[in-house]
Amino acid sequence: MNFIKLAPSILSADFTRLGEQIAESERHGADWIHVDVMDGRFVPNITMGPLIVQAARRVTSLPLDVHLMIVEPERHLEAFAKAGATAISVHYEVSPNLHRTLQAIRDLGCKAGVALNPHTPAQVMVEILDMVDEIVVMTVNPGFGGQTFLASTMPKIARLKAMIRETHRSIDLIVDGGINPDTAMTVVQAGADVLVAGSAIFNEDFTIEQGIQRLKSALE
Ligand code: DX5
Ligand code: ZN
Repeated sequence: MNFIKLAPSILSADFTRLGEQIAESERHGADWIHVDVMDGRFVPNITMGPLIVQAARRVTSLPLDVHLMIVEPERHLEAFAKAGATAISVHYEVSPNLHRTLQAIRDLGCKAGVALNPHTPAQVMVEILDMVDEIVVMTVNPGFGGQTFLASTMPKIARLKAMIRETHRSIDLIVDGGINPDTAMTVVQAGADVLVAGSAIFNEDFTIEQGIQRLKSALE
C-alpha cells in the first residue's frame, strides 16, 4: 500500500490553543493541515477565513490544504493564497467556471483542487482532470465535524481513483468526513491517498498523539 497521508482538520481543534494543537499534530505525524472554510451560505455553518490560515502558516511548515465551502470562491482565492495556503479546493457545486477558477488558483502559486458533495457523481471530473492537483471526496454532507461517514460514497472513491490512474498524473485523492479508526482502512482500500480527520484527532476524550496513532494503527 502506498504511503497514506493524514490531514488533521482544525475545525475540531481547541481554538484557544490552536497554535499548540497544530504544532502537536505536526510533532506526532500529521502530513498536512486541513482548513475548513465555511460561509453560512453554501453550508449552514460559518467558520474561519484567511486570518486563521495566516496564523497557522506561522506555526507549521506542513502544507496547508484549504477547503473552501463557500459560494463564489473565486472572489477569495487571492486572500487565501497570500495567507499561505499550499492548496485550495473549491466545490464543484458552486463553480460554474471551474476551468477559470482552477487556473486562477494555479496562477496564484497554489495547488488546485475540486471538492465533490456526496451526491455529485465522479463523472463531472472527466473534462477537468488535467486542471486538478487534488480531488476532495466528501463522505459527509459538508458543514460540520463529527458526522457519520456515508458508506454510499465508497464506489465514487474507487471510480475517481481509476480515472486518476488513467491520467498517469499524480492527483491526490482526499477523503473528507467521518474518518475514524473504523472507516479509515475501507477508504484507503477504495483508493484514498489522503485522509482528513477532525473529531478523530482533536477530541477531548484522547490526546492528539493518541488520535493520530489510532488512525495509523488502523491502516497497518
Ligand atoms: C466537513 C469538513 C470536514 C470536517 C471533518 O464539512 O469538510 O473537513 O472537519 O470532520 P470529521 O473528521 O469530524 O468528520
Ligand atoms: Zn474539509
